[in-house]
Amino acid sequence: MLDVRKIREDFPVLSKKVYDGRPLIWLDSAATSQKPRQVIQALVDYYEGYNANVHRGVHALSMESTERYDEARAKVAAFINADSPETVLWTRNTTESINLVANSWGEDNIKAGDDIVVTALEHHSNLVPWQQLARKKDANLHILPITEEHTLDMDAVDNILSPHTRLLAMAHESNAVGTIVPVKELAKKARAVGAAVLVDGAQSVPHMPVDVQDMDCDFLAFSGHKMLGPTGIGGLYVKREVLERMSPFLTGGDMVLAVSYEDASWNELPMRFEAGTPNISGVVGLGAAVDYLQNLGMENIREHEIQLTKYALDSFKQFEEELDVYGPKDPNKRGAIVSFHHPDVHPHDLGTLLDRRGIAIRTGHHCSMPMVRSLGVPATARASMYLYNTEEEVDELVDALREALRYFGNGAG
Ligand code: ALA
Repeated sequence: MLDVRKIREDFPVLSKKVYDGRPLIWLDSAATSQKPRQVIQALVDYYEGYNANVHRGVHALSMESTERYDEARAKVAAFINADSPETVLWTRNTTESINLVANSWGEDNIKAGDDIVVTALEHHSNLVPWQQLARKKDANLHILPITEEHTLDMDAVDNILSPHTRLLAMAHESNAVGTIVPVKELAKKARAVGAAVLVDGAQSVPHMPVDVQDMDCDFLAFSGHKMLGPTGIGGLYVKREVLERMSPFLTGGDMVLAVSYEDASWNELPMRFEAGTPNISGVVGLGAAVDYLQNLGMENIREHEIQLTKYALDSFKQFEEELDVYGPKDPNKRGAIVSFHHPDVHPHDLGTLLDRRGIAIRTGHHCSMPMVRSLGVPATARASMYLYNTEEEVDELVDALREALRYFGNGAG
């Protein structure tokens, strides 16, 4: 069990008061998580103590920053059980990680007539790159459908995957409705038809144990800022034998071994994929975030979120007549995301009233337009929770929602 009271003391912003002295209730961690002191301090330590470019200097500071930078890569690799640090590349975020795969592996491997398969749960970042690549290559994009409970329709999978499938790209957890996708089972099916597997771990890596070897994926993309780390740093794991055959995405400094006016040869892994000065402070901060998560234990974090989600779903039963609540009913099959909609109240209006009570939620299409439209609505209100949220905060949300619905005349107005 997590000691949430104690954890909250590590997050300075969680004691912030907003508007007329109301405590901030952060229910927007699916958009970005808050940061503990330990991560903030790691950034301060870097800039105050050893700011220098990596892999370039013979001086003390460069050696120190290179050491810390490489250390963080090893921590992140161990966190997702990658077989070696070289198989983890730094990017800005999940979106850039997926674009790297599309522009490198995709360019070289997708041909006219090939099938790329995604699910109906995707964020734009795992849809648009494949849609555009399919258009460019004259390949086909197929969508795995979902059921009425917004889980993947597993019966449809075997009809859609075929020997033409070159890639199955899937979210591990839907950012819009919270559904957890059985990625291991699907990866096995994809492998059976000879397809490569990409997992968008933006919403899973921060919240549950994720093991790339156990899932048997070729690619895992994730963002640092959703897992207590700084913004502007993300990761891409690539299975070694796949990575060794991939062409560089960006070219320039640090990714080369030798350069002449006519030609260039590529540096070893992982530098081959990391042109230019990287986000060193971001990497060091992400390393501190991984330390923080590891100390708590990912199993414990997941357990806390299951309990909290169960509590939230039970509490939302009182709105059964008024709100549509999306996603699986079983908290074990979903992350700590509760997405809902009132037929007569626009989610932005709900979000604005909740904000006045200090409660931060996200409203809109959550960068998942086709997914949210499939719910028959243009937008939803979404409360997303993390390791620092409490049942009392859920109570506040429910109370504020009741008040908001009263204000809108129960939606009748
Ligand atoms: N992908 C982030 C979200 O779901 C930004 O809010």
